[in-house]
Amino acid sequence: MGNVVKQTYKVTVEERRKQSGHNSFVIWLFGLSGSGKSTIANALEQALFDEGKRTYVLDGDNLRFGINQNLGFSSDDRTENQRRVAEIAKLMVDAGTITIAAFISPLRSDREMVKAIVGKENFFEVFVNTPLSECEKRDVKGLYKKARAGEIQNFTGISAVFEKPEGDVLTIDTSQIPLNKAVVIIRNALSDHLNKPAFE
Ligand code: ADX
Repeated sequence: MGNVVKQTYKVTVEERRKQSGHNSFVIWLFGLSGSGKSTIANALEQALFDEGKRTYVLDGDNLRFGINQNLGFSSDDRTENQRRVAEIAKLMVDAGTITIAAFISPLRSDREMVKAIVGKENFFEVFVNTPLSECEKRDVKGLYKKARAGEIQNFTGISAVFEKPEGDVLTIDTSQIPLNKAVVIIRNALSDHLNKPAFE
């Protein structure tokens, strides 16, 4: 980073948060393909948006059509995928927006990296822990069938690892909890994050 000098701007993140009327932070939804991350992200964004909050969703599939289109599914590419998303999310948080991210994010080390990039005070994790058997039964995109047939390599849950979180992480199993209830559970758990630190 030689020859690059950090510039400062007059409008601060605190002022942007005040104008938004709430704190800004990242909600990181992670879990297997087909676990329901995008569905939850969609409904959660709608609920927060309807409350008048500034929101945006970063979705793994969608970003892989654009900024991440040169990345595949090796561990290195997944790490780079999430590093870029974390940097984008960090900018969105700085812009005063509640940023909902939906990524498989299979490795603990990558989730730790994301947390370190956005800052732990700006990071709210939700593990969408729908069992593999249910994700595979749904197979909305037909990818599990292809992965079982060996047509897709490194498929998470089949031929690539998914590391469950350790410790206390808000967990939603969409085979047990209906969507509207999942949204209420997450929404209620966000109260602290929504209010701090701009409105203490
Ligand atoms: S991550 O592992 O890097 O976090 P990301 O969330 O961006 O993954 O993308 C996952 C989506 O890519 C899946 O929902 C699925 O539609 C698609 N996909 C294609 N190939 C694979 C694969 N080998 N493993 C997992 N998902 C895949």
